[in-house]
Amino acid sequence: MTAAPVTVRVPAKVNVQLAVGGRRPDGFHDLANVFLAVGLYDEVTATAGAAGEGPVITASGPDVGSIPLDATNLAAKAALALAAHHGVAPDVRLHIVKDIPVAGGMAGGSADAAAALLACDTLWGLGTPREQLLAICAELGSDVPFSLVGGAALGEGRGEILTPLEVAGPFHWVFAVADGGLSTPAVYRECDRLRQESGGGDTVADVPAPAADPALLDALRTGDPYALAAVLVNDLQAAALSLRPALAGTLATGTDAGALAALVSGSGPTCAFLAPDADTAAKIAVTLAASGTCRSARPAASPAPGAAVVRTA
Ligand code: C5P
Repeated sequence: MTAAPVTVRVPAKVNVQLAVGGRRPDGFHDLANVFLAVGLYDEVTATAGAAGEGPVITASGPDVGSIPLDATNLAAKAALALAAHHGVAPDVRLHIVKDIPVAGGMAGGSADAAAALLACDTLWGLGTPREQLLAICAELGSDVPFSLVGGAALGEGRGEILTPLEVAGPFHWVFAVADGGLSTPAVYRECDRLRQESGGGDTVADVPAPAADPALLDALRTGDPYALAAVLVNDLQAAALSLRPALAGTLATGTDAGALAALVSGSGPTCAFLAPDADTAAKIAVTLAASGTCRSARPAASPAPGAAVVRTA
């Protein structure tokens, strides 16, 4: 058992393919979800808490006013789940330094959960095997296992069943951060509504089973941004645009500024732009930031490593 504070760094993600199948009886959607970790990071520091106080969450960074600091924060749930798994007291102070956009479709909340899990495991000296950590991640949320793993991976089921993918790179991205977030369940509901409205139906019986695109997996493996740009796809994009029509202007601005391709990141509202190189990414970011179509624009490269302990003092 170590009493020294433990800091874990954890990346954001972008979905380079988000193929959404029909709504299942449990309300989730079957996915073929190709995750790519990107170099925007949150840090979570775990410090021993006072006996009986449970997880205590604090946070700093832009927009932390909109994240819950109580037991509903996914990082607190991660600490409670790990403590319950081992039958230890969940007393821990978790400080989150947030750089990943909040409710932005970049798995920021999931990242904090994965980071908290790893930080508590180290602080409490538990040495939980990787498979058990991944199982706890999957209980916490569909995107949480990927935040632990990083790199690139195909997520099937509701996104939690991961197969690591070979990925070269670097791929150079720009992320246009919007004012305000979008609720993931609301975006999935809108996707269902649009499918019903178009007459096709929205259940697993109506929608073809999602599958990873072999051309996209090839593009990741070879690290070719032009090939990747040609196959980027997000089945939630129409729903995100329906809820936030102004995002169409953001996407067009980045494309006009030289992006090879543009898409909404996950459930949005962050928009992702793939650039041919780092210089062009920097120029696209400047154009987007000046355009008034987003609040800020962040260049970042991928792949990035998964959650990892970076400091233990
Ligand atoms: O798993 P997670 O808690 O991140 O999911 C949040 C919400 O997103 C779910 O309650 C559900 O409404 C929606 N979702 C879905 N299908 C998935 C993943 C998430 O419908 N595969």
